Amino acid sequence: MTTTKYRPESLMMSYGYKPELSEGAIKSPIFQTSTFVFKTAEAGKAFFEVAYGLREKGKSEELGLIYSRINNPDLEILENRLTLWDEAEECAVFASGMAAISTVLLEFLAPGSLLLHSCPVYGGTEHFIEKILVKLGIHCVTFYPSDGKSDILRKLRESGHADALAMIFLETPANPTNAVIDMAMCREIADEFSTPEKRVLMAVDNTYMGPLWQHPLKFGADLVIYSATKYIGGHSDVIAGACLGSSALMKRVKTLRTFLGNMAGPWTGWLLLRSLETLKVRMECQAANAIRVADFLAGHPKVEKVYYPGLIPECDKQYAMYRRQCWSPGAMISFDIRGAEREAFRFLNGLRLIRLAVSLGGTESLAEHPASMTHADVSPEEREVMSVSERLIRLSIGVENADDIIHDIDQALAAV
Ligand SMILES: Cc1ncc(COP(=O)(O)O)c(C=O)c1O
Repeated sequence: MTTTKYRPESLMMSYGYKPELSEGAIKSPIFQTSTFVFKTAEAGKAFFEVAYGLREKGKSEELGLIYSRINNPDLEILENRLTLWDEAEECAVFASGMAAISTVLLEFLAPGSLLLHSCPVYGGTEHFIEKILVKLGIHCVTFYPSDGKSDILRKLRESGHADALAMIFLETPANPTNAVIDMAMCREIADEFSTPEKRVLMAVDNTYMGPLWQHPLKFGADLVIYSATKYIGGHSDVIAGACLGSSALMKRVKTLRTFLGNMAGPWTGWLLLRSLETLKVRMECQAANAIRVADFLAGHPKVEKVYYPGLIPECDKQYAMYRRQCWSPGAMISFDIRGAEREAFRFLNGLRLIRLAVSLGGTESLAEHPASMTHADVSPEEREVMSVSERLIRLSIGVENADDIIHDIDQALAAV
């Protein structure tokens, strides 16, 4: 018998859900319940033994439903469906992207260990690393997209803690400049510092491109993380996060999630199941619109520079990396307007269709000013290295008609 391997988008309406367990309902109900009734005391005991790691799960044994901080059908179906995009063994869904990121960092780092991370990363991640992990005695080394392998190795040596390297954390393409970081190079570095007893882990925040356009697990990442608030949720109406990886690593992540209690609730899980059904059509429409918008911006006299993977010239060393790692240029565009903060603000205040708000990946187009908003926390010196100037504007392109988005940008630029 041949089995058809359906593509993820074909399975987003059905995978992991058994209608016969829910009165035949075509869609999973919202299991708005805190706890689950055990058939017998023996069954309850067996569930807890597995959930608390007191024994390994039997071959055909499924972890029974216990309590919604540990498991819940809406979350389990969602987690199973999310594994399909990244071809991961397991997934854990969280109450926010920051919950996913902080849980991963806390689980795999300990006082004395060293974290190497790319810069820029999302402001909340930067704050958690620099202000909270450092307080716990975890050392940090930062590198920039312009750093090559030898620069990074030098920074690690100079830190005096290279032997304690436990994790490399990346965000690529970087927010807000779309700078691409070489994941294979980072894996090489992780391998150089791994020993038979200790694998240096690589975690990638794939919010900007995923889960459709980039698959870090295929480039040596051990863990891939999302702010599911962005493309996965896709409607700017839910805050959530996700982490995916091997069963062995995810068991540790899920155990810490159980004790931090930062899982997503059933209603969030249900909303995300609904969002996943249209993930591919939404993201493809957003990317198609973004290509048109980027081309328009690149030809506009009031625009100095456009930061968009689809416009990286072939002669640039970022080009080969982008083509290797990404399946699409994505739907995030940043650009330098000619002038300074005053011109940038005039543009932002002049928009009529595109809304002035942070966040990204939703159905509606959004615009923001990284230097004074998402990256206000970053020092002016670091912003300079990262090309986050007062002229920079970040756009998240939505599913509106591309001509209307371009018209709005055009009239706002005319007002500058
Ligand atoms: C790249 C990236 N990672 C993580 C986060 C944090 O996600 P959340 O807001 O869902 O906690 C964000 C939020 O903007 C983000 O842009």
